Amino acid sequence: MTNEPLIRIENVSFSYQVNHEQQIPVLHGVSFEVYRGEHLAIIGHNGSGKSTISKHLNGILTPREGDVWVNGINTRDKKRMHEIRSLVGMVFQHPDNQLVATIVEEDVAFGLENIGVPPEEMKQRVDFALESVGMSAFRHRPPHHLSGGQKQRIAIAGVLAMKPQCLVMDEATSMLDSFGRQEILAVVRRLHREGMTIVNVTHHMSEAAAADRVIVMEGGRIALQGTPRDVFAQHERLRELHLDVPDASRIAAWVHREVPAFSPALIHNEEVVAEVNRLTLKRAEASGS
Ligand SMILES: Nc1ncnc2c1ncn2[C@@H]1O[C@H](COP(=O)(O)OP(=O)(O)OP(=O)(O)O)[C@@H](O)[C@H]1O
Ligand SMILES: [Mg+2]
Repeated sequence: MTNEPLIRIENVSFSYQVNHEQQIPVLHGVSFEVYRGEHLAIIGHNGSGKSTISKHLNGILTPREGDVWVNGINTRDKKRMHEIRSLVGMVFQHPDNQLVATIVEEDVAFGLENIGVPPEEMKQRVDFALESVGMSAFRHRPPHHLSGGQKQRIAIAGVLAMKPQCLVMDEATSMLDSFGRQEILAVVRRLHREGMTIVNVTHHMSEAAAADRVIVMEGGRIALQGTPRDVFAQHERLRELHLDVPDASRIAAWVHREVPAFSPALIHNEEVVAEVNRLTLKRAEASGS
């Protein structure tokens, strides 16, 4: 059972029911797995179905056809919805829409109250969650006075208080300035290092480059998947899918055209810096200085 993926998405199709007559088909036979402890990124053009598939990962939506299994529980099993939501927590795009209480610590405790966690344990879990996102000092503040990045950290704390195995983020950094985005990414990096499974739906290719694996959606199907290095090497295919590559990949491809010794297969900024240093050193050695 330990090698069983945390989440299994099997042949999932889904349509939004607009009214009695009209359905909008959005997902078409999507299958993939989320492995325990991995950091998975989901990218794709606007409207490709990323948010719809993410909402299937903890039963907010259930498939029209196919199945989603979370830790072996079918998300159609409504009696076990609390368990599913505790295992897989979600953070969305708009920080303001996710805050429900007038004081930070009450907001973080909100989900716990709903599942009837005893007060002493609730306090411990709120302490732990606020500590994990570096927001303990703000526990008695009203959340609407916080910056966007701080609000998203509170939203993450609310999820962490539930002791989930997986954190799903749907464009959770897209409303934030660069500083707020870095705050969230630092928290997520730490959680992942400590063993949390991460699913990050993002428009930022540099965020996808930091994942273990990337799934590319198009028209409600998986168009491409693999390691970030393999996916971002396919510049042409990504262009067809209206997607960019990380800045590092674009710079590396450009320098490679001018300087063939410069590796084109780079996806991280630090790799570009290291490659410049490597070639500079090599030239210095060749010229005997
Ligand atoms: N509640 C809804 N009712 C009807 N159609 C919807 C609903 N939500 C999404 N859609 C449609 O489903 C398709 C997929 O939407 P979804 O939000 O999953 O895409 P996305 O990849 O997350 O897009 P974005 O990058 O803009 O966030 C789109 O065509 C969208 O218009
Ligand atoms: Mg979306």
